Amino acid sequence: MEYRVLENEYVGEGMYYLKVGGEFEAKMGQFYMLRAWDKFPLLSRPISIYRIEEDGISFLYKLVGAGTNIISNLKKGDPIKMEGPYGNGFEKVEGKVALVGGGIGIAPLYMVGENIENCDAYLGFRERPILEEEFGKVTSNVYTTSGDTLITDILNVEKYDYILACGPTPMLKKLLEMTEGTKTRIQVSLENHMACGVGACLVCTCKTHSGNKKTCKDGPVFWGEDVIL
Ligand code: FES
Repeated sequence: MEYRVLENEYVGEGMYYLKVGGEFEAKMGQFYMLRAWDKFPLLSRPISIYRIEEDGISFLYKLVGAGTNIISNLKKGDPIKMEGPYGNGFEKVEGKVALVGGGIGIAPLYMVGENIENCDAYLGFRERPILEEEFGKVTSNVYTTSGDTLITDILNVEKYDYILACGPTPMLKKLLEMTEGTKTRIQVSLENHMACGVGACLVCTCKTHSGNKKTCKDGPVFWGEDVIL
């Protein structure tokens, strides 16, 4: 489907905010396949949903190659093609919840904050924190780290019933270790490389205790006790 860009701007830490006009419905943690070109690059880019509003949907994306470079140059009113929403998102939970995001992994957590009560946000950045104020609108407390301090350094997992996390694999791995043997349950959204986004190419395969799964279709969100990182 073709839509129109409403806003597209750099927000810091290598990330851009893109808002596209239209009416959308999706679950927290799902993604869309985006493209703004015909033939090259071949593949559309999988981008996590950041927010759904009355007049449109927004995404946070990182400039990583030819496709996201083209997207970063889009202006208000430009056409963009989007398919989705795809994937299995975060499961709704009740209790005390920590949302843990690293880098571009913060993107899907905003919508979780909007949909789940009683969340604290832990956001890890490379150089300087961004979007703290935004996350403050949908969570009780926002904690950030940057530089040499990792977000996992300041999190006490036992304070929470659930951790909902998205970010680089080493961060997710660390969180699985931290929650192991505790009562805290964790859902992780994987950032595996994707190609088709719809379960047809197997590029995104990940390991779970019940065999290989497709990150795009069976995930990207998995319960910590199921996935093997
Ligand atoms: Fe093709 Fe997942 S990206 S199967």
